[in-house]
Amino acid sequence: MATHQITLTVNGVKEHTQVSSNITLLTLLRERLGLTGTKNGCAAGECGACTVLIDGEPVNACMVLAVETDGAEIVTVEGLARDGELDALQAAFIEHTGVQCGFCTPGVLVSARALLNRSPDPDEDEIKDALRGNLCRCTGYVRIVEAVKAAARGGD
Ligand code: FES
Ligand code: FES
Repeated sequence: MATHQITLTVNGVKEHTQVSSNITLLTLLRERLGLTGTKNGCAAGECGACTVLIDGEPVNACMVLAVETDGAEIVTVEGLARDGELDALQAAFIEHTGVQCGFCTPGVLVSARALLNRSPDPDEDEIKDALRGNLCRCTGYVRIVEAVKAAARGGD
């Protein structure tokens, strides 16, 4: 298997690493860089548990080869908090009981952050549309949507 030297930025840190052609970004993040906040739910592009931002766009990391991210800027759930301060979404998810399970929440937070970055005051349809790739099999989306709305309002 061919290997490639790649350089990418992950949560603001430059990473130089050697990857084989078939390793996914999800594997690189979890197994090489120890960023296990990004979850492996289906490894098939179906569940959204592995959502990360690549150059600002939410993407399923299980469907991207690490070699494709050479030169890219990656943000994982670990990169949402800044200087020990939770992202407004993380705080709102705690406040509004949007944290339903540890498996889906990281991907939901990353998708919601991408939404608020491009649309700071989304309506309910926009929120649902932004989260349609993040599957929840437990209690549904009511609390999650409320939490995203609250974060957009500034947390109240
Ligand atoms: S683990 Fe990537 S979409 Fe499910
Ligand atoms: S939030 Fe994970 S299954 Fe519902």
